[in-house]
Amino acid sequence: MTAETLWTLVDDYINESLVKPDGALDHALRETALFGAPSFNVTPAQGKFLHLLAAAIGAQRILEIGALGGYSAIWLARALLPGGKLTSIEHNWKYVDLARANIAHAGLSDRVDIIHGKGLEVLPTLTGPFDLIFIDADKPANPDYFRWALKLSRPGGLIVVDNTVRGGGIADPDSADSSAQGVRQMNALVSAEPRVSATCLQTVGAKGYDGFTLIRVLS
Ligand code: DHB
Ligand code: MG
Repeated sequence: MTAETLWTLVDDYINESLVKPDGALDHALRETALFGAPSFNVTPAQGKFLHLLAAAIGAQRILEIGALGGYSAIWLARALLPGGKLTSIEHNWKYVDLARANIAHAGLSDRVDIIHGKGLEVLPTLTGPFDLIFIDADKPANPDYFRWALKLSRPGGLIVVDNTVRGGGIADPDSADSSAQGVRQMNALVSAEPRVSATCLQTVGAKGYDGFTLIRVLS
C-alpha cells in the first residue's frame, strides 16, 4: 500500500468516526466535482478543523480569500455566532455562481457574501476588523494576502493559510515552484513581524502532503 492510500484510508475513518456525513457539505463537494472545478477544496477533516477554530474564538466576522465551490465557506459560516457574517472573495465568475448556489443549498445565504473580484483589488475595499481570515487562493500572492490580512484582523484574531507545505517544497530555498516561494516569502514577513505569532502544521490525507499555517494577530 502506498503512503497516500493509507492516508486516504485514515481520512475515510476520520470522516466516519468524527466528522460524519452532511447533506449540504456533501452536495457542495459533489457539485464542485461535477462542475469540473479543480479538487482544491479542503478535506472534510480539514473543513471541520477550520470550523472548530472559528467556533473556539467565537468568530462573528470571517473573511475568506478564494471561495472555489464554497465548501470551506459552509464549514466556517456554520461556526459564526448569531448575526455573524462571512465574506469570501472569488475571482472566477463560474466559481462565484457555484459557491453561491452551494451556500444557498446549505441555507446560509443570509450569512455569506461571495464577492466577485481579484483578491488584491477587493481587499482594499473591505472594512475590518475580522476575527478569522482564511487565505486559500493563488499561492504566489500569499505575501500580499498576509499583509492585507494583518491590516484587516482584530487583535487576538487568527489568520489561517492553506497549502503552506506543498509536498515539502517549502523546505527548498531554491524551489522552482512559485507557490512554494510564495509561502517562503510570506513566512519571512511573518517571522519579521512583531505583531504576530505563528506556526505551521504539516498535514497528510486524501489530498496528499501539505499544511496549514496558523497566525495569531497579537495587536
Ligand atoms: C492548489 C490549491 C489549493 O487551494 C489546494 O488546496 C490544493 C492545491 C493548487 O493550486 O495546486
Ligand atoms: Mg487550498
